[in-house]
Amino acid sequence: MNKEYLNRITLGDCVQHIPNLDDNSIDLFLSDIPYGICLDDWDVLHNNTNSALLGASPAQQGKTGFKKRGKPINGWVQSDRNIGLEYQDWCKEWAKSVYPKMKEGSLLFVFGARRTIHRVVNAFEECNFLIKDILSWKKPSAHHRAQRVSIVLERRGLTKEAEEWEGWRLGNLAPIWEPIAWFMKPYKIGGTITDNILENKVGAMNIKECLINGISPTNILEFGFESNEERVHEAQKPLSLMEYLIKLTTKEKQTVLDPFMGSGTTALASKLLDRNFIGFELNEDYYNYSLKRLNGSNNTHCQANKKEEIQGFLF
Ligand SMILES: C[S@@+](CC[C@H](N)C(=O)[O-])C[C@H]1O[C@@H](n2cnc3c(N)ncnc32)[C@H](O)[C@@H]1O
Repeated sequence: MNKEYLNRITLGDCVQHIPNLDDNSIDLFLSDIPYGICLDDWDVLHNNTNSALLGASPAQQGKTGFKKRGKPINGWVQSDRNIGLEYQDWCKEWAKSVYPKMKEGSLLFVFGARRTIHRVVNAFEECNFLIKDILSWKKPSAHHRAQRVSIVLERRGLTKEAEEWEGWRLGNLAPIWEPIAWFMKPYKIGGTITDNILENKVGAMNIKECLINGISPTNILEFGFESNEERVHEAQKPLSLMEYLIKLTTKEKQTVLDPFMGSGTTALASKLLDRNFIGFELNEDYYNYSLKRLNGSNNTHCQANKKEEIQGFLF
């Protein structure tokens, strides 16, 4: 069955397609899944229709992300408090169908948000995966807005209070890192991890190929975009980061699954490193862009798979 999906990005809902993959066939799961923080329509993964949340905020006009941020969630309403659990249920829905597709002892990297990654971890544990670590992807810089309390008070005409609160701000510290949850599928009862490496060729790290400035890497990974790297997806990840994680945990010709491809970064990284990939993307614009990206990199073994019908063009 994998043949139909191999080295293709399929346009469609991964929840429908993942069950069609062969059992015990995936060497690495690497995916930047929707974070459940309402970054865009595809990231609204709850049933909360509280208009304070999904209403269009004037503060977000002209911005690329968080167009529907509305007011901050204050937790006063039960439907606000349910958002996290509904996101967890959504993760569980597809993670349970990923489980049988992974080889025993294989590794999984799941990108998430600092605020919601614990939901991903809960969902994956409920699906029987083991959590190994939470890596930190450290970005070169971070957009940051933290409103000055004194300015808000001045607008209210409270001059004395504004002076008292001079230097204080509302909000968070600059969000410079994002978590990557690292899981493993358990291996055979009675065997050791080394037996499993020999049998399934997964579960180890290629440190020799992944030294950073000549030394062993830590679990804080610092990667940014190349100056010539085109960016079309508001959640796009640096190609070099995806390449690094693939190189760290797979050998050539092994198969990488990313059910949430976006602009196709995981597919491109796999292709450049001579790994096979299987990918899905729901949004037609991102899907088309991902094909352009793959086309642009002169490969001979990647295909598009649009609406179940293989277009049959090789590039
Ligand atoms: C965080 S983005 C991935 C961005 C990607 N890492 C990149 O570098 O471009 C997640 C993507 O998942 C897609 N998506 C959401 N739900 C999906 C589903 N059920 N099946 C397939 N794709 C889905 C969204 O359209 C979005 O493009």
